[in-house]
Order: sequence, then structure tokens, then C-alpha cells
Amino acid sequence: MEKIPPTPPFSPWRLSVAPMMDWTDRHCRFLHRLLTKRTLLYTEMVTTGALMHGSVQRHLRFNAEEHPVALQLGGSEADELAQAARLGEQWGYDEINLNCGCPSERVQRGAFGACLMAEPHTVADGVKAMRDAVSLPVTVKHRIGIDKTESYDFVRDFVGTVAEAGCEVFIVHARNAWLQGLSPKENREVPPLRYGLAHRLKRDFPRLTIAVNGGITTNEQIAEHLQHVDGVMLGREAYHHPWLLTRWDEAFFGAPPSALDRDAVEDEMVRYMERAHAEDGCPWYAIARHMLGLRHGLRGARKWRQVWSDHRLKPLPPREVWRLARAHVSDETETLAA
Ligand SMILES: Cc1cc2nc3c(=O)[nH]c(=O)nc-3n(C[C@H](O)[C@H](O)[C@H](O)COP(=O)(O)O)c2cc1C
Repeated sequence: MEKIPPTPPFSPWRLSVAPMMDWTDRHCRFLHRLLTKRTLLYTEMVTTGALMHGSVQRHLRFNAEEHPVALQLGGSEADELAQAARLGEQWGYDEINLNCGCPSERVQRGAFGACLMAEPHTVADGVKAMRDAVSLPVTVKHRIGIDKTESYDFVRDFVGTVAEAGCEVFIVHARNAWLQGLSPKENREVPPLRYGLAHRLKRDFPRLTIAVNGGITTNEQIAEHLQHVDGVMLGREAYHHPWLLTRWDEAFFGAPPSALDRDAVEDEMVRYMERAHAEDGCPWYAIARHMLGLRHGLRGARKWRQVWSDHRLKPLPPREVWRLARAHVSDETETLAA
């Protein structure tokens, strides 16, 4: 792996786990924070509508252990974004991020997400309103283009306009969003990745913080991107193979090597399940679903995972489920047969 001299001070955006709906909830973030102390964590997208009309507590509650944690908002009306950002600040988030990258039809009907890239002035107004409302960093996550717009100028002008409104941090999912004909999942796979555009943004806007996202899966790739940009965001790989996160504090922040082992992490997670249940009756399986990748690649991992996702075990206490799951894993020997 190419050696990046980890010289502080590090950008807060140097490494992050992406916002992912239905995945990066507070339970998932609790797990990720056990594995890495330095990586920035993002919430799922929370729409301004959900905060204006729904339960604020349900959408914004998080664990004190999760810091640093950024709240991602979805919306386009400046006054609603400002109100939502204010709520985020009151609840103790460390950053407010605006989603300008989600291509789903539901989001398009609400006229936010990726389609906002066609309206940089609307984004700029929203950013300005949020910056006026809170003292937290206000950041934007976006694509490199929409539909078949291939030109670099499009994303350069988007970033330029939004930066004029005071946004200093851009997280660039380095593929276009195709607003017609692709599902959100396909929109994370089909439009080609063009990292060069994200790197070029950093060259053209050296004072801005630019982080790159999309299709990055290894520490070697992270190190390579860090030669060109300030930060790297990982989504699916971090979720499916969370053990990767245990290397990051050492590799990218100069921390001592992690002394964690999977049993200790699982023990912490079981304690957390017990705590969450005592607090508000949260069932263990709402938490366990996020840790199914923890033993990926190890002997017995498949059977271990089957126990933790066995619906028939729902009535058991989590410590008992753990005892059953653990019977399948003897040590941490890696095996392709797992
Ligand atoms: C299940 C899932 C849900 C997602 N939800 C969001 C979201 O709420 N907000 C957002 O900006 N991006 C969302 N994304 C996109 C990711 O943040 C990220 O940009 C994308 O997965 C590409 O990064 P990756 O290749 O490292 O996964 C989601 C992705 C997945 C897989």
C-alpha cells in the first residue's frame, strides 16, 4: 500500500462512511464507531418534510458515542432547510450535509436530491440559509452530472456557484445520476465512475475541501485518492465489510494499531442491544442486522450470520443468541470456504 504520511492536522473529511438510507441508522453508526474513532459518520438522509411534519425525536436521536456525526438533509426550500439545520444543531450534530445526489423518483417528485444539480442557485440559497441559521459546517454531497451531461464545466459551475454561497466542503460521488430509467441501485452501478473530475475539482478549487466517493473498496484505493483530494467516503464496502474500518485510524490518522478483536466488538454490541432494549424496547435484531458482515471471510461466518438473522430466535435475549452464534466460530482464521 502506498504510504501516506499521516501528518496532522487531518481534515475532518479525510475518511467518512456514506449516508445510506435504511442502513446508516444510529445502531449502525454505533457499530462503526466501535471500529474507528476518527472516521466521520453520516446519518441516513432525513427530509425537511419529515422534520417539519414527523417525529423529530425519531429522526434525529442518536447515541453520544457516535461523534463526529453529520446529519444529512434532503430538501430544497431555503427556509425549511434552515429550520431543519437548526434542529440538527440543537440535537448536537457536528455538521449539516445537503443531499444533491439522490436520484430516486420520490426524491425527484419532491424536487430535491440529484435534480438540484440543475439548479445551483437554489442550492446556493439553501446553503446560505443554513449557514445563517447554524454555526456548524454546511456541506454538500453531489454527483458529477445529471443524465447525459458529460462536461466537466457542469460540475465545476455547480461547485463554483454553491461555494460562493459559503459552502467549503463538497463530497463528490464521481458518477452521473441518470434521472430517467434507472433505479437508485442501478444509479450506483451503471453510470461510469469518473474520478478524474473530482480530482480536477480539487485542482481548480484548491481552497475547498473535496472528498471523493463511489466504488472505492480498498485501503490502497483510499490512499491513492488521498494523493489528489482531501477526503474519501465509502458506502457499501464499509457496510458489508465493516472490519475494514478497524485499520483506518492507524493507516490514515497515524493512530496506534487497533487492538480490537471481533469477540470484543460483539460483546460491546450485545451490551448495546441490552441497553437499547432497556431504554425503549428496541429489539436486538434491529441492531444485529447491521453487523452481519463483521466476520466476513472467516471460518464459520456463514453459520454465525444465519444465527444472528434467524427469525425464530427473536424471543431470546441477545446474549443467548450470541452464545448460539459463537458456537460456529472458533478463531479468526481466514478461509475462502466461510
Ligand atoms: C442502501 C443505500 C442507501 C443510500 N442512501 C443514501 C442517502 O440517504 N443519501 C445519500 O446521499 N446517498 C445515499 N446512498 C449513496 C451512498 O451515499 C454513496 O454515494 C454510494 O453508495 C456510492 O458509494 P459506494 O460505492 O462507496 O457505496 C445510498 C446508498 C446505498 C447503498
